[in-house]
Amino acid sequence: MIETALLKKMVFTGVTPIEKTVSDVSSLINRNLKMNGLDLLDLIPSQTVKTSFFDPQYRGILNKLNYGNEGKSREKRRCELEQMDESTIIEFIDEISRCLVPSGHLFLWIDKFHLCEGVSHWFKKADLSIVDLITWEKSRIGMGYRTRRKSEYLMVLQKKPNRAKGVWTIHNIPDVMQEAVNTKEHPHTKPLILQQRLIEATSKEGDLILDPAMGSGSVLLACKNINRNFIGCDLNGKDS
Ligand SMILES: C[S@@+](CC[C@H](N)C(=O)[O-])C[C@H]1O[C@@H](n2cnc3c(N)ncnc32)[C@H](O)[C@@H]1O
Repeated sequence: MIETALLKKMVFTGVTPIEKTVSDVSSLINRNLKMNGLDLLDLIPSQTVKTSFFDPQYRGILNKLNYGNEGKSREKRRCELEQMDESTIIEFIDEISRCLVPSGHLFLWIDKFHLCEGVSHWFKKADLSIVDLITWEKSRIGMGYRTRRKSEYLMVLQKKPNRAKGVWTIHNIPDVMQEAVNTKEHPHTKPLILQQRLIEATSKEGDLILDPAMGSGSVLLACKNINRNFIGCDLNGKDS
């Protein structure tokens, strides 16, 4: 368990932490918690998180594709997971934004349909703007009535004030990255190395990194590899 003093040290310089809440969350660091992400976000003091990932369980793509076979065959594992509607996604984004330090980053995993249709209304209340987009080339081919999906997208959002200098510290990350993942444990496991590099680019050792719907725990593993502190959970978390 991380000591309260250490968590206070991680709190972004220049921001006064809320003492009570800080001591409450100290026991939640570097774990795979089984809980609702919105309840976890409630416990996190404002402006304490350097970088966040959010990978919603999209309802939209199932509606759009209209496969009509939810709960059956190859979609079964995915449909068993709790889906998020748009208002829930916006609630998560507003809360993540509150938790981020000024100029902190949110990496939002997004599918092709939401990307094409536009999601800027999701950030209306949040203090976030879109600053970049990364394509993950998954190496394996997926579904699709016309073209078959082989990529997913990571929208890069930054809390105000927007700036890259001194905040984004690695300058050789391409905006298309190929990485194969093993989805045996979780159908939506995201690429470890890609996420690890983005954490390295946007935070320092000891900083607090958030993922309130952590699935397989790919962000937790990335944080362990590079000595960042992690706070996150999943409705189906391991409670470890
Ligand atoms: C797309 S997956 C995340 C995959 C993860 N990025 C990874 O690398 O494994 C979305 C996850 O959100 C979880 N989930 C859905 N609603 C949730 C909620 N309200 N709070 C926490 N987790 C939730 C689902 O159980 C699912 O594991």
